[in-house]
Amino acid sequence: MMNMRERYGPWALVAGASEGTGAAFARRLAAEGFDLILIARREAPLRDLADELRRNHGVACVTGSIDLSQADAADRMIALAGERDVGLLILNAGADPNGASFLDGALADWETLIARNVMTTMRACHRFAGPMRARGRGGIMLVGSGACYGGLPGISAYAGSKAFDLVFGEGLWAELKPFGVDVLNLILGRTDTPAHRELMERMGRPFPTDCASADDVAALGLARLPHGPICNWGLADDEGGYAGASAATRRARILQIAAAMAGQEA
Ligand SMILES: NC(=O)c1ccc[n+]([C@@H]2O[C@H](COP(=O)([O-])OP(=O)(O)OC[C@H]3O[C@@H](n4cnc5c(N)ncnc54)[C@H](OP(=O)(O)O)[C@@H]3O)[C@@H](O)[C@H]2O)c1
Repeated sequence: MMNMRERYGPWALVAGASEGTGAAFARRLAAEGFDLILIARREAPLRDLADELRRNHGVACVTGSIDLSQADAADRMIALAGERDVGLLILNAGADPNGASFLDGALADWETLIARNVMTTMRACHRFAGPMRARGRGGIMLVGSGACYGGLPGISAYAGSKAFDLVFGEGLWAELKPFGVDVLNLILGRTDTPAHRELMERMGRPFPTDCASADDVAALGLARLPHGPICNWGLADDEGGYAGASAATRRARILQIAAAMAGQEA
């Protein structure tokens, strides 16, 4: 049995690492001995986290201030990683900071959200998954939202972007599994993060009392990484709940159709 670092290390890159679930992933991975590449826009919290991880766990940390909504974000991620052997890519940044219905938000803000959640996700997976496939091991985690399962008022563009990530991640899972690379869509419900708290405050809403903790979410995601393509927070693998179809049902569907397609090609 390979341990976590042998399977997904030695370097993990966490995009959206400065706080909340991203920082929780980084802390858990550092405790497992991973060296870390930490990305967000704000430099100060990234530097503080990197210092903490070096001090507490003796791991190497590299930080980069990169705006993931920019067209060159994936190129900058690759440049930051350099020659380092990145075996785990966690794309965590992705919340909707707008808190508005589609027409009440500025089109530019929706474009920014789609650029980060869709275009950069796709580009980063293309850039980082290639070496993983060649090496025959690795992991990719796309941090998603229950919003991926259907449109809802107030989050139309956000839900659409998360639906893209879900379906994209399912396909990647099926394509990369034979090469030893695990892909997981970690689908979250309400989670206690600074970004979530800030949004609720800005909208004048009370902060919900039923939130998951960032650390619990990170622990679940890392534990379920080998069992993709989906892990729904709060639901067992065979429970549909808010997702409609369970993770197990969606997995079985992918495998069934992939087998039928392979049969046609043979
Ligand atoms: N919190 C919830 O209740 C909840 C519910 C369902 C799903 N989720 C999902 O969980 C993930 C984390 O959410 P969150 O609440 O922590 O909020 P978030 O806004 O996704 O923030 C998480 C991290 O991403 C960074 N970030 C945000 N936009 C960025 C950008 N354009 N470029 C680079 N870094 C960026 C933030 O740091 P900087 O500000 O320094 O850049 C922060 O470190 C998201 O994918 C979200 O969709 C959250």
